Amino acid sequence: MTTAPFPAARFRRLKSSAALRALARENVLSVGDLIWPVFVRDGEGQSEPVASMPGVNRLSVDLLVEAVKEAADLGIPAVCIFPYTDPTLKTQLCEEAWSPDNLSNRAIRAIKAAVPEIAVMTDIALDPYNVNGHDGIVRDGVIVNDETVEALVRMALAQAESGADILGPSDMMDGRIGAIRGALEAAGHRDVAIMSYAAKYASAFYGPFRDAVGATGALTGDKKTYQMDPANSDEALRLVERDLSEGADMVMVKPGLPYLDICRRVKDRFGAPTFAYQVSGEYAMIQAAAAQNWIDGQKVMAESLIAFKRAGCDGILTYFAPAMARLLGHGPVAH
Ligand code: PBG
Repeated sequence: MTTAPFPAARFRRLKSSAALRALARENVLSVGDLIWPVFVRDGEGQSEPVASMPGVNRLSVDLLVEAVKEAADLGIPAVCIFPYTDPTLKTQLCEEAWSPDNLSNRAIRAIKAAVPEIAVMTDIALDPYNVNGHDGIVRDGVIVNDETVEALVRMALAQAESGADILGPSDMMDGRIGAIRGALEAAGHRDVAIMSYAAKYASAFYGPFRDAVGATGALTGDKKTYQMDPANSDEALRLVERDLSEGADMVMVKPGLPYLDICRRVKDRFGAPTFAYQVSGEYAMIQAAAAQNWIDGQKVMAESLIAFKRAGCDGILTYFAPAMARLLGHGPVAH
């Protein structure tokens, strides 16, 4: 890459009008890049705000279906379901996780019946069903890997049976992608995709999410024995390579903005479909500052999302999905 000396080269030339800026733009965000994470609760006609995530509500299945219809009308290609589980259903062995009639599986069936064109993604981890709040089964204070993987496989099969299009193992146990892929193939679910939470960090940015799914009080200790150390980068590449080799179709980096360097390395190295999760704490910070008028919320939203495209991501899981879709011109802009 060579650049002529000044004044032959003036970078301001291509910035001088909206038309020239449009021509010189390197990356675009489109509605097809967005996956909308949603929270489902029990009951009917229920919409309950999540205090730490202004603008986000836990919806009962009937209202969730309505919200997903709107998302589909906005052109959003996928939603990702997270259940707020009744604390009385949480156990040591997390059996509710693979109940065909758990909240998440009921939501999958209801959405696929009413809005078949939208892809439904799930979360595979035991935390919503675990008395300990951990993603795996806990024995004598230890999160046991292999027994957890067996539970995750049951959970994956129940979700696939319910009609899920994309499974999202977010648990960070070793060997789960291969085990889930093998079980899906054996059961005839050849076209169920896996988006592996491959590089998932032990992050404080998940705080508001744990409120949203009711896991905050439940969690004993932290998730550092399975989620990644924020100081690590090479390890992310090894995890992504491992998960792709076990049958993941897509990989994810999580959280988002603080880990854009990881997104770029993953995309450059593997060229696989690469996603980032702009997590609850990132969303909450932007919404909190915008509510004070300290920043322009819509502009920061758009700027934060184009950053993922610049970093090489193919798509983003974001609580801003409907708002961003509207800003992109797919419906009336919300104020
Ligand atoms: C649970 C899970 C978490 C998130 C997605 N799946 C939380 C955690 O690992 O503690 C976080 C999402 C967010 O913060 O928006 N396996």
